[in-house]
Amino acid sequence: MNNTVYYDSPLSDDKRRQEIFEGQLFAFSPRPSTLAFIQHARKLIEDAFAPLDPETAQYHMPVEQYAEVLGRLKPSFIHHPDSKQHIQTILTDMGADLSKTYFDVPKMRSSTSDNFLTTGIAYAWHPHRDTWYSAPPCQINWWIPIYDIQSDNAMAFHPKYWNRAVKNDSSGHNYYEWNKQHRGAHVSQMLKSDTRPLSRPTEAIEMDPQIRLLVPAGGIILFSGSQLHSSVPNTSGKTRFSIDFRVVNIDDAAERRGAPRVDEEATGTTMRDYLRGTDFTTRIPEEIVMLYDDNTVAKGDKIYQAGQGA
Ligand SMILES: [Fe+2]
Repeated sequence: MNNTVYYDSPLSDDKRRQEIFEGQLFAFSPRPSTLAFIQHARKLIEDAFAPLDPETAQYHMPVEQYAEVLGRLKPSFIHHPDSKQHIQTILTDMGADLSKTYFDVPKMRSSTSDNFLTTGIAYAWHPHRDTWYSAPPCQINWWIPIYDIQSDNAMAFHPKYWNRAVKNDSSGHNYYEWNKQHRGAHVSQMLKSDTRPLSRPTEAIEMDPQIRLLVPAGGIILFSGSQLHSSVPNTSGKTRFSIDFRVVNIDDAAERRGAPRVDEEATGTTMRDYLRGTDFTTRIPEEIVMLYDDNTVAKGDKIYQAGQGA
């Protein structure tokens, strides 16, 4: 049963992943390694919005300009060499074996208040599983708020859909096509509507009850990429900034461990995106990737090349 939120759990990384694959959630208090990471993120954010306060800058700029700022800020965070270094420190601190732990470049997310910008570069996420976007069942998401969050600008989990099929249109999502056609700088021009084909439920979702975990800035939330999750509609008066990155353990990948597959039909795989924790360059060996691949590579690009990353 998925019914537990572990708080500052001392479980080993192996045990923790096992629990996450059964639908449990983990919350951790801020620690020096994560506080250093959010300091790094805050510096970039505050420089980008200066002299405005980033949490309220949306009330003092036209949306076009705001999206432009995010369009520069987010890639600069994603590709900053210090960002990977911080993840390495955090993974070690959290007990992961770096030689077996592979991660994708960290993403910076923002959720603006009062529907200021909910498309493109600041997309307000409808309920989804990352596995509807070609993530493997062993992917674990690490989520860290950069400033303190509150209930009305948090993220939400819908755990009753764990291991319970939801009708969805993920069969239309091919990861290679996505890499080739739908990623990149143009997302910051999507101010009113989002033209990307984003996998979503095709039946009504019962949004309540839902779980919102409120960790302080620099706290960590860990959850399975198969967990149904969404952005809470932000009515807080403050823009939420958060970091997330996706992690795969190579033994899980090789043994095909992970969350149960229930309703995902996306094709292609994100397996080639993850970089080994020891050197940030080694990718998961192709023979393991092939356990997750299909014959759709010809549809686009195996990995995202343009370096804009959104
Ligand atoms: Fe997600």
